[in-house]
Amino acid sequence: MRHRIALRVALLVLSAASALLHAQDRSAAGGGTTIVAQAAGDPNAFNRLLAPPGARNLSPAEDGIHDPGNAGTLALQPPLQSFQLLPRSNAGNRVDWGAALSKKQIQPRWETGNPKAEPAVMDLNIVREVKGSMPDVVYPHKQHTEWLDCSNCHPAIFVPQKGANQISMAAILLGQKCGICHGKVAFPTSECRLCHSKKKDAPAQAVETKTGPEPKR
Ligand code: HEC
Ligand code: HEC
Ligand code: HEC
Repeated sequence: MRHRIALRVALLVLSAASALLHAQDRSAAGGGTTIVAQAAGDPNAFNRLLAPPGARNLSPAEDGIHDPGNAGTLALQPPLQSFQLLPRSNAGNRVDWGAALSKKQIQPRWETGNPKAEPAVMDLNIVREVKGSMPDVVYPHKQHTEWLDCSNCHPAIFVPQKGANQISMAAILLGQKCGICHGKVAFPTSECRLCHSKKKDAPAQAVETKTGPEPKR
């Protein structure tokens, strides 16, 4: 069984979240309030999209995820310091992780026990046609399988068959489908064009305004 760094990070975040929820249970029972309980009560605690600049990439002791009372927390490098040299992006935690990986500025370990293990990268784009004016969505397997194992998505999140999954923007914004990761551990949903990246063929309007014989399609 291979363990993936990205999944481990996601699991750490999830276990931290459930620890926070338990902390909240306890404080509700005891009638006391703590900063930790407040963080758990905030539905946007993990939504970096909505975090004001001053609240982004806080040091581990202040981030509401790590235990500030644990001495080990202070040994962790603050993100603002460690992210400084990495390629920038305009959203989320302001790092372009895809570029950081392809430039080999970071080298996440593919297997916990084996530093030499290589990912099984699959280069297969899936185009999902979108009704309306938004460009179509291109889902790239390559960029995902550089971080993730097939089993991170198949079959629990997506049946591995083109078009077999119902995906909607509403579901994504509710944290389902692509939104299980995007907005939490991968770039946020504000970056429409990173997913909606394929221009549609000439819009019907342009055809209608032409006079004369029907243009060939
Ligand atoms: C981050 C999530 C994710 C990961 C990781 C992932 N896939 Fe997929 N895969 C998808 C999505 C999304 C689709 C499209 C499903 C749809 O259109 O309904 C898909 C579709 C497929 C298809 C169907 C292609 C077709 O033309 O019908 C196959 C086969 C597949 N994946 C295999 C793999 C394999 C093998 C791996 C690992 C090397 C992998 N996937 C990793 C999300 C993922
Ligand atoms: C299991 C987690 C997971 C799921 C589910 C997932 N992604 Fe991602 N995605 C990632 C990670 C991790 C990255 C790389 C880090 C980043 O760019 O923030 C990424 C990167 C991307 C990229 C950027 C590629 C580039 O050029 O940098 C696109 C586009 C993308 N995802 C689209 C999608 C779409 C569309 C879906 C749903 C069909 C989806 N993802 C589902 C985790 C996921
Ligand atoms: C992580 C990738 C991702 C991002 C970011 C993203 N979308 Fe989507 N979007 C999708 C996918 C996947 C679908 C479903 C396509 C399909 O029908 O198969 C979709 C569908 C849509 C649809 C079609 C109607 C619907 O609800 O399904 C609209 C409109 C839309 N998105 C608008 C947006 C806008 C506006 C943004 C930016 C604020 C955005 N999307 C950001 C992946 C994304």
